[in-house]
Amino acid sequence: MKARSEIRFLLNGTPVTLADVRPDETLLDYLRLRQRLTGTKEGCAEGDCGACTVLVGRLRKGELVYESVNACIRFLGSLDACHVVTVEHLKRADGSLHPVQQALVDHHGSQCGFCTPGFVMSLYALWMREPQPTERAVERALQGNLCRCTGYEPIVRAALAASTYGDAASDPLATERAAVIAALEGMKDGARVESGSGRERLLIPADVDDFAAILEAEPKATIVAGATDVGLWVTKFMREIAPVVFIGGLDELRDIREDNGTIHIGAGVSYSDAFALLAKRIPQLGALIDRIGGEQVRNMGTIGGNIANGSPIGDTPPPLIALGATLTLRKGKARRTIPLEDFFIDYGKQDRAPGEFVEAVHVPVPDAASRFAVWKISKRRDEDITAVLGAFDIRITDGRVEAARIAYGGMAATPKRAKAVEAALAGKAWTQETVEAALSAYERDFQPISDMRASADYRMMVAKNLLRRFYLESTGGAANLSRYEAA
Ligand SMILES: Cc1cc2nc3c(=O)[nH]c(=O)nc-3n(C[C@H](O)[C@H](O)[C@H](O)COP(=O)(O)OP(=O)(O)OC[C@H]3O[C@@H](n4cnc5c(N)ncnc54)[C@H](O)[C@@H]3O)c2cc1C
Ligand code: FES
Ligand code: FES
Repeated sequence: MKARSEIRFLLNGTPVTLADVRPDETLLDYLRLRQRLTGTKEGCAEGDCGACTVLVGRLRKGELVYESVNACIRFLGSLDACHVVTVEHLKRADGSLHPVQQALVDHHGSQCGFCTPGFVMSLYALWMREPQPTERAVERALQGNLCRCTGYEPIVRAALAASTYGDAASDPLATERAAVIAALEGMKDGARVESGSGRERLLIPADVDDFAAILEAEPKATIVAGATDVGLWVTKFMREIAPVVFIGGLDELRDIREDNGTIHIGAGVSYSDAFALLAKRIPQLGALIDRIGGEQVRNMGTIGGNIANGSPIGDTPPPLIALGATLTLRKGKARRTIPLEDFFIDYGKQDRAPGEFVEAVHVPVPDAASRFAVWKISKRRDEDITAVLGAFDIRITDGRVEAARIAYGGMAATPKRAKAVEAALAGKAWTQETVEAALSAYERDFQPISDMRASADYRMMVAKNLLRRFYLESTGGAANLSRYEAA
């Protein structure tokens, strides 16, 4: 096995080779403290405010894809063979502003300016991907950027006008694409990266088989995929995470495909990567992804990480459980596939043996006979964590409930099926009376807690109301409820 101890990446226009990377060193600290690239700001250090937004370009099946990410929770070790683009890279030789920056100036999109570099980078990514965006696309691109003083309207106006200030096709990231691809391909040498010991130990597997071998040898290693959870363990909780295995660059884990009515999602597939196929085949899941974090978090965070962390308020497990998804776990060369719901044993406890990892999740596409819905209830629409999330896959035949799978997040110590409610519905006529009679079963399924997001009573009431809502929508009685949710 080829191995090296340094990581290599492109920073703006400069190739960088680093042999002294701590596994918990963030990209933001590296940029500001080591490179003195202070245009990238630190606001929250937890992925919420977007002040630290930079672009990361990565080769995917030969394609160079740039995405906005939060440098504050992105670890340097995850950047091997990547192109990091900071706001300084927008500087023009003649001193003029970049089109996105000029549009922000002209539309009064900046006051104190602290958030501005982050907005610029998010809008830069959008401008290159979609030079003439809709207002909805602008809002989506900016879900992960907060501004305390300007207000968003001038910023949105600037975003809509940016294409009139310059042509994305003549931007350096477009014109220098071939050279960047060649540079990144040169860095991808198929070697394992292994450096340091103890608190300094960092590993980047050469491929997925190598990952399996590393984890068998070092079962206590922290796996880092998108780092949108693990990043906060470091920046908020000051936890030691070494040894760390970075798996975000493993192409084999980033595969998403459909065959025979099942969507197979590799553990390394990000929300953004999953969006197109899920939104097309299971539109309710596409709409849910739109409610997860902001664009930067969706570009980094993975569905595999959302499952593996076992959080009771992770957004993807309940709908995947309702759909009957299965999970493939791998240890060395051995694989086992289990129903996803069985993975969650108790709070902080999952069915994952030492040295084992999540390889893929398999999601059956609901057929025409069943009705599927998922609703996330949180205090804010955008960038908020779930208070209660309910997912329903119910099959009605000849006016009767033939089968019901219902799962909730935020109602128990794990994502959990409402089996007593399902049993109370099964075989019954699909009527308002059946639904009302089934509501008492919720107390048998759940004893939710009160916390800063919601009280136990509120959670219980919302959980029940979501079943009522499902009924009303399924019978056409409240088809217009959906208009209260942004498209
Ligand atoms: C600002 C912000 C907003 C957020 N909003 C939401 C939200 O709306 N809804 C939501 O559900 N979550 C949200 N999250 C949480 C987070 O984004 C998700 O849980 C995400 O899916 C985690 O994926 P990741 O790849 O970043 O995981 P990581 O942080 O890399 O890892 C998470 C956990 O999974 C383990 N792990 C990762 N991959 C594997 C694997 N293949 N096998 C075994 N273990 C593995 C890691 O060791 C770690 O324990 C938010 C986070 C932030 C910072
Ligand atoms: S500093 Fe707030 S998202 Fe990174
Ligand atoms: S301009 Fe001050 S925070 Fe946005």
